[in-house]
Amino acid sequence: MHRVVYFSNASLELTFPAIEAIVEKAAERNRPLQISGALHYNGLNFLQILEGPQQALMPLYLQIRKDPRHSGVVKLVHERILTRSYPDWGMRLFCGAPKCVGAPTGMSPGDTDLPAMINAFFGLGHTMAFAELR
Ligand SMILES: Cc1cc2nc3c(=O)[nH]c(=O)nc-3n(C[C@H](O)[C@H](O)[C@H](O)COP(=O)(O)O)c2cc1C
Repeated sequence: MHRVVYFSNASLELTFPAIEAIVEKAAERNRPLQISGALHYNGLNFLQILEGPQQALMPLYLQIRKDPRHSGVVKLVHERILTRSYPDWGMRLFCGAPKCVGAPTGMSPGDTDLPAMINAFFGLGHTMAFAELR
């Protein structure tokens, strides 16, 4: 089983319901492929964690890369794993932006490296948001 984590710039037009729709559809499509993971959104960027069999993961990642709803996709991690961080098949949404009313912001994946990366991601989002205000 493999894990891919990437970072991208979300399209500025994306509303929260549009992001929820991406995740709902993603979960439906991922389950039969035995792919699970999480999509983190900080108001500007996505950090997505995709986990599953490599033969299903790589075509999906290449497909997601091409999606015009985000840009500047950078792969941060590609590694072999023994256990899933988000064991339920599908896709979970975590959102740290004010426009995500009612969405969970917390995250507690079982893997030791991921929480630090995710915390850094949300920290970065805040920094960028502040920079924009100036
Ligand atoms: C940030 C982001 C994350 C996505 N994650 C997934 C995913 O986990 N699984 C999935 O099937 N599609 C995901 N999609 C949607 C795919 O890019 C693509 O639209 C979908 O697979 C349908 O492709 P098709 O319409 O060409 O068949 C994501 C899109 C974005 C913008």
